[in-house]
Amino acid sequence: MKETLIKVQNLEVGYPNQKVFQNLSFEIHAGQFLAVIGENGIGKTTLIKTLLGQIKPLNGKIEIENHLKIGYVPQFRNIDIEYPLTIADFISLNFTGIKLPWLSKREKQKINEVLKQVNLFHLRNRPLGMVSGGEKQRAYLAQALIKNPELLILDESTASLDPKTKREVLEVVSKLNRELNITIIFISHDLNLVKEYPDSFLWLKRDEYLSGDINNLPDQLKGESHV
Ligand SMILES: Nc1ncnc2c1ncn2[C@@H]1O[C@H](COP(=O)(O)OP(=O)(O)OP(=O)(O)O)[C@@H](O)[C@H]1O
Ligand SMILES: [Mg+2]
Repeated sequence: MKETLIKVQNLEVGYPNQKVFQNLSFEIHAGQFLAVIGENGIGKTTLIKTLLGQIKPLNGKIEIENHLKIGYVPQFRNIDIEYPLTIADFISLNFTGIKLPWLSKREKQKINEVLKQVNLFHLRNRPLGMVSGGEKQRAYLAQALIKNPELLILDESTASLDPKTKREVLEVVSKLNRELNITIIFISHDLNLVKEYPDSFLWLKRDEYLSGDINNLPDQLKGESHV
């Protein structure tokens, strides 16, 4: 049996004046690569924020393994061309939250390690504002990796990317899952990616949900490219 990292039972999520989703039960186990899918506004981000403790559950139960280290790449980030920090400095923010003029030898080693894991070592001294969308996404991933997460949550990390670049990001994510056994929750509308990389799905629908092995994706979704 694989270790259960998160167990959700009869969960209801939402905001004080708006229930978003209810009666949700599922488990996430170590090493899983879960796709969370569903139409705009169905509650994917709300669910993630609830799992992260940023929003209180309205009802039900969430059990999270003690001291589980979670890396989170949020849905919206605003890095424009003026953004001054280099990729390496941006990644180092996750050590302290502020840019320090010095880093320990171990911290520098860790930065180089994650830069290599996301294939950005060659761009480490480039300002983050001056790299492509796919490279930015990989820098966000690297920043999340600094803290050695056991679970990585990616909220539409590939949404604004072209198909080739999406796959480059997913190749990196998939490698982290396979080689470092990092558990992944990947939120996406792109069913082509969902069919190719994750091993399981959670499909939030109006008033119901479906979940299971990716090979048992409902027929309704099989011919589709987006949800
Ligand atoms: N801070 C908030 N306060 C109140 N309602 C909110 C808040 N944030 C989101 N909502 C509402 O909750 C519902 C679910 O939103 P959520 O962002 O979780 O959807 P989503 O599935 O992530 O959508 P998308 O695919 O567009 O990212 C929506 O109706 C949204 O308007
Ligand atoms: Mg969302």
